[in-house]
Amino acid sequence: MASSSSVNLEDVPSESLMTELLRRMKCVTKPEKRLILIGPPGSGKGTQSPMIKDEYCLCHLATGDMLRAAVAAKTPLGVKAKEAMDKGELVSDELVVGIIDEAMKKPSCQKGFILDGFPRTVGQAQMLDEMLEKQGVKIDKVLDFAIDDSILEERITGRWIHPASGRSYHTKFAPPKVLGVDDVTGEPLIQRKDDTAAVLKSRLDAFHKQTEPVIDYYWKKGIVAKLHAEKSPKEVTEEVQKIGPNDHLMLVSSIDDE
Ligand code: AP5
Repeated sequence: MASSSSVNLEDVPSESLMTELLRRMKCVTKPEKRLILIGPPGSGKGTQSPMIKDEYCLCHLATGDMLRAAVAAKTPLGVKAKEAMDKGELVSDELVVGIIDEAMKKPSCQKGFILDGFPRTVGQAQMLDEMLEKQGVKIDKVLDFAIDDSILEERITGRWIHPASGRSYHTKFAPPKVLGVDDVTGEPLIQRKDDTAAVLKSRLDAFHKQTEPVIDYYWKKGIVAKLHAEKSPKEVTEEVQKIGPNDHLMLVSSIDDE
């Protein structure tokens, strides 16, 4: 018997079914890929993720989005995470590892995943390695969104998001067609509670102290590719595409070393 949450395919518009069918056909030939995006707040991880997801047929797992959904739904996990998030501190390794472990089992992660905002501590990276080892797979590439701190305040304080889809806008760099309104649904945009100059300071502090060592962790494994995240969104996308198609290209080098 169908569960109450299952979708009756007869109710799905033909155009949506066709689009999904074509997407799946395109994805059949794609190789599996497991990517990590690392960078400070506002470096563009969330902006580049949809393009990478579509290009390689991966699922996009953003721990920040998952935690914000849990906070909004006031789940036990959300209640535990809220205080640290509001202050710009990291939530505990156990909480985030648990949600990632669960999320990776989704059918949409069949061809692999993009981890956005995870791992953020060396402890999380080690736990991830253990998890993947059990599945007999490994991380293919880590994209390091390298950028100077001084650029980030303007990006963070000008960001507006559509909470339901995760679509992100910027008042100056990526404005919506109508101010304060999502281009696709027409629903209102909001600003994240932690997107203030004051909370950004704590988030950057956490990044430099706890997350930068994660880049060294993967650098030693020879799988880091460094991006110039201060460039325009289009230029960053071009850098990602340059790295992406060939697994053996620039695995241990930065774009500068070409
Ligand atoms: P999270 O949601 O992961 O936030 P973050 O890492 O701080 O990253 P952001 O989403 O702020 O930045 P982004 O790089 O995605 O930037 P975007 O592309 O939107 O985490 C939030 C909190 O959750 C953490 O503080 C922590 O408490 C908790 N948490 C999450 N994961 C955790 C973990 N693993 N362990 C423990 N705690 C965890 O771009 C920003 C803006 O700039 C946008 O408006 C965009 O339009 C614009 N923009 C993007 N690229 C460009 C460009 N090239 N040029 C000009 N503008 C640009």
